[in-house]
Amino acid sequence: MCGIVGAVAQRDITPVLVEGLKRLEYRGYDSCGVALYADGELRRTRSTQRVAELGEQIAQDKLSGFTGIAHTRWATHGAPATHNAHPHFSALANEKPRIALVHNGIIENYEELRTELEGVGFVFESQTDTEVIAHLVNHLYSGDLFEAVQQTVRRLLGAYAIAVFCRDEPHRVVGARQGSPLVVGVGNNENFLASDALALAGTTDKIIYLEDGDVVDLQLSRVWIVDSEGKSVERDTHTVSIASGSAELGPYRHYMQKEIFEQPRAVGDTLQDIESITPELFGDGAYKVFKAIDSVLILACGTSYYAGLTAKYWIESIAKIPVAVEIASEYRYRDSVPNPKSLVVTISQSGETADTLAALKHARSLGMSHTLTVCNVATSAMVRECELSYITRAGVEIGVASTKAFTTQLTALFLLTLALAQTRDLLTEAEEAEHMKALRHLPAAIGAVLALEPQIMAWADRFASKENALFLGRGMHYPIAMEGALKLKEISYIHAEAYPAGELKHGPLALVTASMPVVTIAPRDALLEKLKSNMQEVRARGGELYVFADGDSKISSAEGMHVIRLPEHYGKLSPILHTIPLQLLAYHTACARGTDVDKPRNLAKSVTVE
Ligand code: G6P
Repeated sequence: MCGIVGAVAQRDITPVLVEGLKRLEYRGYDSCGVALYADGELRRTRSTQRVAELGEQIAQDKLSGFTGIAHTRWATHGAPATHNAHPHFSALANEKPRIALVHNGIIENYEELRTELEGVGFVFESQTDTEVIAHLVNHLYSGDLFEAVQQTVRRLLGAYAIAVFCRDEPHRVVGARQGSPLVVGVGNNENFLASDALALAGTTDKIIYLEDGDVVDLQLSRVWIVDSEGKSVERDTHTVSIASGSAELGPYRHYMQKEIFEQPRAVGDTLQDIESITPELFGDGAYKVFKAIDSVLILACGTSYYAGLTAKYWIESIAKIPVAVEIASEYRYRDSVPNPKSLVVTISQSGETADTLAALKHARSLGMSHTLTVCNVATSAMVRECELSYITRAGVEIGVASTKAFTTQLTALFLLTLALAQTRDLLTEAEEAEHMKALRHLPAAIGAVLALEPQIMAWADRFASKENALFLGRGMHYPIAMEGALKLKEISYIHAEAYPAGELKHGPLALVTASMPVVTIAPRDALLEKLKSNMQEVRARGGELYVFADGDSKISSAEGMHVIRLPEHYGKLSPILHTIPLQLLAYHTACARGTDVDKPRNLAKSVTVE
């Protein structure tokens, strides 16, 4: 996690750095800081508040300069405190700081390096693993920063993206990456570094994606990249169109609210103008791959994992292919039985989640060569690593709690289900036409569910005083219950867990009292009667039910049972529609509790460390 911005220019680049940090706050917000070269020395401002406050502090400190680096932190080593905030400086004894450095990642051998550097006289001011890199660069520096950084990274174990500059070479910033993202922004007589091209929107749209092992030398009119072996390499420059307005809040109170309401557009865009199902939607050669595989292995984390669990129900039911869904951080470290004929599907909003990437590589190392990703970032490592891909068109998602990314992932996974069914001759033309009709109508159907917001707000006021909640679902709505519970706990800090309703009697029923709301996802499907019995089990114990039913189901409000009806039952795509009210419930409950909805405590959007 953590966000990095760096710049070499001939103008005051403080505004670029601060604006870049604002756009990268989704990567972590425990603290932030900026370091600049000014009047022959290194100066910095650091804060444990948000980037907006840092900007004010910078103005007060009158910090400005034409070369600089900046950082927003998600703490791993060392508490979120000013002395642990980046940039870190390194000075030789009795001298002013010579090196300034920011880092995203984890250095695994930092203790050993720290002992070594303390042994040669470096004094540490923080508990971070990062500070060792700053001192190591300083230790190895003999007049050429690019050279010193290349030597430094050879000593590092772990994951890193770094940006560093030196008091003695003020028109130069050096960057390096291994396992954590870093891009170069190419400007006109000025150049930039950032964790994500989004940080540079409005500054430059010419982006170079660095590869693992790359070290880059940025000067005013030169970008020089060497690979892990020290050989000069050319990397393509892409023109990336990120409208700077995409990060604007508009009339909404929070990005999460904006993103919930963007879902009709996001799902519509994800469907593009698809007329009919074909494997080639997932890339050239997909037909051959889909024919060759006999099972699917889905790897993902967080909300993306719940999208995978939902897809398992669809794929097994419609395409009749066995599916295993694994949490990436578990899969990568456990002994499993690889099946070379399995299609490995990774699901990731960011395309850079460290555990998902590592799990993908692990699967490949076990001989599973067929890989596909459902991802929201076309230029991400995940897309580059996979043979096939489907790019969701959610657009930039800023709120840490994923919303539109999830529903667009589900949309893409439903398309994948249909394409797999088609290659197995399990999709007739009539069925395809029916599914396509339902998909095309999906944006409007989501819009109709969003209109339930006022009713859900009334429920949220009641939830705000609770400390626990239980979510129930059955079948393909069980993963949706899990996603609903995750949303509530992430942003409102109410403890919430999800259970398949049939499991209620095997434990969670012991927790049911009038003070624990039980949210039930009750679509009018084949399991509804079974679910109604489960609801009675809750009522019989005095539990308070909050039920999301479909317009045409025979469930009505009664004492202890509150019902909100979605406009229509939506068949196999119902999980997508039933997600929306759960997002709104979590959102409004969090608002009522006054939490920082877009930046919940201790979390970050893009988890680029293990
Ligand atoms: C973090 C985010 C979640 C996201 C998960 C996986 O935990 O807060 O919203 O679902 O990472 O991220 P990915 O980018 O791989 O989907």
